Amino acid sequence: MLPSCEPYKIKMIEPLYRSSREEREIWIREARYNIFNLKSDQVFIDFLTDSGTGAMSDRQWAAIMSGDESYAGSRSFHGLKDTVKELTGFEYLLPTHQGRAAENVLFSVLVKEGQLVPGNAHFDTTKGHIEFRKAIAVDCTIDEAYDTSKPHPFKGNVNINKLDELMKSSADNVSFILITATCNTAGGQPVSMENIRQARKLADKYGKLLIIDAARFAENAYFIKTREEGYQTKSIRSIVLEMFSLFDGATMSAKKDGIVNIGGFIALKDKKIYQEASTFNIMFEGFLTYGGQAGRDMAALAQGLKEATEFDYLESRVSQVAYLGEKMKGYGVPVQEPFGGHAIFIDALKFFPQIPREEFPGQTLVVELYKAGGIRCAEIGSLMADRDPITRENRYPALELVRLAIPRRAYTNNHMDYAAAAVGQAFESAQKILRGYRLTSEAPIMRHFTMELEPVGN
Ligand code: F0G
Repeated sequence: MLPSCEPYKIKMIEPLYRSSREEREIWIREARYNIFNLKSDQVFIDFLTDSGTGAMSDRQWAAIMSGDESYAGSRSFHGLKDTVKELTGFEYLLPTHQGRAAENVLFSVLVKEGQLVPGNAHFDTTKGHIEFRKAIAVDCTIDEAYDTSKPHPFKGNVNINKLDELMKSSADNVSFILITATCNTAGGQPVSMENIRQARKLADKYGKLLIIDAARFAENAYFIKTREEGYQTKSIRSIVLEMFSLFDGATMSAKKDGIVNIGGFIALKDKKIYQEASTFNIMFEGFLTYGGQAGRDMAALAQGLKEATEFDYLESRVSQVAYLGEKMKGYGVPVQEPFGGHAIFIDALKFFPQIPREEFPGQTLVVELYKAGGIRCAEIGSLMADRDPITRENRYPALELVRLAIPRRAYTNNHMDYAAAAVGQAFESAQKILRGYRLTSEAPIMRHFTMELEPVGN
C-alpha cells in the first residue's frame, strides 16, 4: 500500500524569519517569559495553538467572496445552518464569534451558582465560564489519561463509575454533563463512541442534558474510525452523525475543525433552549443570523466543515502530528502516548524532574524550546490551571504538559523535522537547568495569557 499524503498542494506561502538564539534570549526576557507577549515575527515555528491558525483552501477563499453580509436572514447563515444540520442532525444554530462565546451564551442559560458541571477534563475557557458563574467544573476523566506512557486508545473517556457516583450523590445539583471531544486538556485524546453512549445513558437516567464541546469533533471521529471496534468500514460523516445523535447540543470553536481563522457556534436539538439562548446571543454576539461573524466568515466555515470531515484530509492531518511525535521520541523526549489528534504533549515533570513544581517546570520548558529553535508552544500545567477559586492556592494538576499544537495544513514535515531536532537539543542539555520561574504579575482568572515571570535564582 502507498503511504498517505496531503490531499492538496500549496498555492500561497508566508515567509518566516529565522532568528538567532541570541536574539531570542533578548526577546523572551522582554516578553517577561510569557510567550503570549512575543510578536509573531519573533517566532519561527508557531505551535502555540491549532486554533484559528489553519490554512484555508481555495474553495474557502472563494466562499469568502460569495459571503452575504445582510444583517438578517443572510444566505451565508442559511448555508452554514444547512451544513451543520447535515453533519450533526441538529436543527437549531446560533453563530458566535468563537468557541468561548458559545460557552458564554449557552452557560448563561444552563449554569447557575453552586451547580456542578461534570464530564471529562474541561478546556480552560470552559472552566472559566463555569467558575465565573460560581459553579464547579468536575473532571471525571479516566485515570489512564494521567499516565503519559500508558497505552489506551481513548484517553479522553469519561470515568463512567465516577460520573455515576457523582450523580447518585448530587444529581439535583448537576447542571448538565459536558464531553469535550477530543479532550484537549487530557492531551488531544479521543472519546470513544461507547463511552459517549454510556454517558448518554446516565444523562437519561438522571434527566440531564449531554452537551459536546465539539472543537475537534472530526479528529475524534477519525480516531473512532481507526481505533474503535465496528467503525473501520464506516465513513467519517456517518460516525460524526452518530456521535452528535447522542448529544442534546454542542458548543463549537470553529477555529479548530472548522478550519477557519475565527468563528464558532452553538447547535441544539431543543427549541426551548435555543429560544432562551437566542436572547443572550443577541445581547453578547449579534443578531441570530450572524452572531459576531461576517457573512463571508460563515460561508468559509460551511466549506471548512465539509473539508474537515473528509477521511483523506484527517488521515494526513493526524499522521503529521504522529510524525512529529515519533521524531521527538527518537530523541528520547518524554511525550504523551498515544499521540493526540492536534498536538504532541511533552511530559515536563519527566523532562525536568529536578525543577520543583512551584517553579513551573512546564513553563521552564516552554521558554527553553523557544530559545532552542524559535518554537512557540504552550504550558498546559499549573499556570494554566489557575489558583483554586476558594483557597487561592496554586493548583497542581496531575499532569504538567507542554503542548506543541500543529496548525492545520500550514506546515510541512520538514518543519516537523526541524522542531523535533530543536526539542531534542533542549532535552540533551535539560539536566543543566536547575531552577524555574516565579510569577511577578497575574490576573485572578486565566492568568497564563497575561502573566509575567522572572527566573528563580537571578
Ligand atoms: N473548547 C476547547 C476544547 C478548546 O480547545 C477551545 C480553545 C475552546 C473550547 C474555546 O474556543 O478559542 O474559539 O474561544 N482552544 C484553543 C487552544 C485556544 O489553543 O487549545 P475559542
